[in-house]
Amino acid sequence: MDKPNSFELTGPEFIPSQYDHHIVRKLSSMVGQYLDIEAYQEILAKDDLVLYEVYEIKRPEVAGELLHGVSIVHPGKVGQEYFMTKGHFHTVLNTAEVYYCLKGQGMMVMETPEGDWAIEELYPGRVLYVPPRWAHRSVNTASNSDLMTFFIYPGNSGHDYGTIEQQGFRKLILEEAGQPKVIDNPRWKAPGAR
Ligand code: F6R
Ligand code: ZN
Repeated sequence: MDKPNSFELTGPEFIPSQYDHHIVRKLSSMVGQYLDIEAYQEILAKDDLVLYEVYEIKRPEVAGELLHGVSIVHPGKVGQEYFMTKGHFHTVLNTAEVYYCLKGQGMMVMETPEGDWAIEELYPGRVLYVPPRWAHRSVNTASNSDLMTFFIYPGNSGHDYGTIEQQGFRKLILEEAGQPKVIDNPRWKAPGAR
């Protein structure tokens, strides 16, 4: 683990030539996150679709290490809402993350524990710095291509999924007239209401 290591990450596929974990997240793991509950149930009743996948390179989960890998959000929608990741705060809130977009088109939806929010576009070649304290969720806004990003974050960050599972993100990305549109999440629980 303590020797320098390199691998290839080349297009058009951008699957790392070496990885330790391949995580597959399905629709059933996103209960309560999509606005259109009926559409969610309807799709789930037919097929527990794969929404996104992550290829991780294993490193010790301690300060000083950098965890890294590739995230792939597939194209698709639940109702009018695009496929997206669960999204999370880092358990150690004061840890940042860098994303580099390899392929596709999408948005990163972010918010702080105080309810500040931000949305940044993702497209090939785009670098996104997610500062400490900002929860983050990747959304694929393309109709037929994967959104692929390379990510790097501190080894001791940890993942807090529970907060977002309970409160949701403040903003959602829906398709309207063929274009992505940012809307307020009517089910979002504001700070203080939690
Ligand atoms: C790690 C990170 C990404 C995400 C990945 C899947 O801190 O932000 O590697 O883990 O994009 O999203 P989640 O973890 O929200 O299911
Ligand atoms: Zn993260």
